[in-house]
Amino acid sequence: MADNRVTINDFLKKKAEGRKITILTAYDHPFARIVDEAGLDAILVGDSLAMVVQGLGNTLPVTMDEMIYHTRMVAGAAERAMVIGDMPFMSYQTSVEDAVRNAGRFLKEGGAQAVKVEGGSEVVEKVRAMVRADIPVMAHIGLTPQAIYRMGGFRVQGRTEEARKRLVEDARMHQEAGAFSIVLEAMPVDLARRITETLTIPTIGIGAGPHCDGQVLVLHDLLGLFERFVPKFVKRYADLKSEALEAVKRFKEEVEKGEFPGEEHGFK
Ligand code: KIV
Repeated sequence: MADNRVTINDFLKKKAEGRKITILTAYDHPFARIVDEAGLDAILVGDSLAMVVQGLGNTLPVTMDEMIYHTRMVAGAAERAMVIGDMPFMSYQTSVEDAVRNAGRFLKEGGAQAVKVEGGSEVVEKVRAMVRADIPVMAHIGLTPQAIYRMGGFRVQGRTEEARKRLVEDARMHQEAGAFSIVLEAMPVDLARRITETLTIPTIGIGAGPHCDGQVLVLHDLLGLFERFVPKFVKRYADLKSEALEAVKRFKEEVEKGEFPGEEHGFK
């Protein structure tokens, strides 16, 4: 194991020192190399892979075995970034025992250093059990995509006073259960700020404004590789789909015209 690997202590230190934490998703070796080389603190092998890699409509169908397969590819590529495996739908909701056993698979078989789970007070006892089993846990509240059917779609959370209170309380309970950080997804900026100021563990925002202790985005959104829809909170830093399309078209054209392969590509 690399001895300069980012650890959960570095997350806490960054919050204490007011330095931002940066996280992106990746699902395979080449993209994980890019994120690691760029010096991000962590790579999340998100269950978003169901949508951006498998082409499915939501994150619910992805399985434990598929998540482990992708986590192993990423873990093999990440020399410095912490690798966080995202626990898929129904891998931890069913029981404390399932939660600990499946979380353990991410570390044992996937090579991750931590796991992430979605949900509030209803998953806190599972978080506590995983932490007791020495598995670092990142919590995830607000818009939790595994709950889209209960939430009625991909909707901003924490709009009413009651919902705001519940989210603050959920965050506090996760911290008390031992989570080392918490993702805040799609909630009003002032609520994310309040949660960030309340907790001693770092908050990682996605659609939660600039006051969180760190930010996470889905890599394929940022690179312009996922075009089905672009959430309001995404900033596109590149348009790789267009570049890739152009390259592939040029290959086709050059082969058809007899321009590729050239002499320099042949063997004597
Ligand atoms: O699955 C995922 O990529 C995530 C991030 C959006 C936080 O959960």
